[in-house]
Amino acid sequence: MSFSDVTVRYPGRGAARPAVVDVDLQVAPGQFVCVVGPSGCGKSTILHVCSGLLKVSGGDFHYLGKKWQGRHTGIGYVTQRDTLLPWKTVVGNIALPLKLAGVAREERRQLAADMATKVGLGHFLDRRPRELSGGMRQRVQLARVLVTNPTLLLMDEPFGALDAVLRVRMQEFLRATIAEAGLTTIFVTHDLTEALTLGDQVVAMSGSPGRIGRIDTLDDLPRGVSAVELRQVPTYSVHEQQLWATIAGHGDSPEPL
Ligand SMILES: Nc1ncnc2c1ncn2[C@@H]1O[C@H](COP(=O)(O)OP(=O)(O)O)[C@@H](O)[C@H]1O
Ligand SMILES: [Mg+2]
Repeated sequence: MSFSDVTVRYPGRGAARPAVVDVDLQVAPGQFVCVVGPSGCGKSTILHVCSGLLKVSGGDFHYLGKKWQGRHTGIGYVTQRDTLLPWKTVVGNIALPLKLAGVAREERRQLAADMATKVGLGHFLDRRPRELSGGMRQRVQLARVLVTNPTLLLMDEPFGALDAVLRVRMQEFLRATIAEAGLTTIFVTHDLTEALTLGDQVVAMSGSPGRIGRIDTLDDLPRGVSAVELRQVPTYSVHEQQLWATIAGHGDSPEPL
């Protein structure tokens, strides 16, 4: 996936003011990229472009070597909101995209039940969303996306509403799931520690209009270890300080706040 000099303007009243400008970013297959930045800097906008929901107003966006051409296939998008259907069970919710794709009832229920088991919800197949904890609902949303066998996973602040302990458990679970499936992932968060723990690469955005101020590749940090262990690695604080300066607008970003 590649962004070259991309600008995005939303139609309507705000059209005069771009949401993001000067976006240059390359994402290689199998990479885990975290996008971090303050509220309103255009993180969700970047994901909308990746998903094919939103067309760029300037520059180029390429996916799998092709210019944007409407809907992309093979994309799993976990949005910021809880979008489970309250009247459907865990299995019913996970099976929904398969139903829309025309998979036969028995087959889709089997696939959905298998995926629910994989994300640790094997004992909750017939529960409704209101009978689940926040972390469990998050797993259902993830399972509903994974059951479609995506090649690209887009996640928008998926763990923002979870308490600290559950959040770390979900991060570990996500990392293992993604490694197993070999997915390319773009993960949006406003939590720098989360970005440094999960990502192979961290993209720091700032400003209004939003732009990318810094991209750090985390080759010099061990992967798959906890945030507590990561903090012991000397290079961790170098990344943390530089990325933080960018996000907060005092770094070498082209347009400080
Ligand atoms: N649907 C929309 N219509 C008009 N402006 C929008 C829309 N969505 C987002 N924006 C604007 O685009 C900018 C970036 O928003 P967004 O991508 O949601 O930021 P973030 O996800 O980083 O909080 C903001 O200024 C926001 O007001
Ligand atoms: Mg957002």
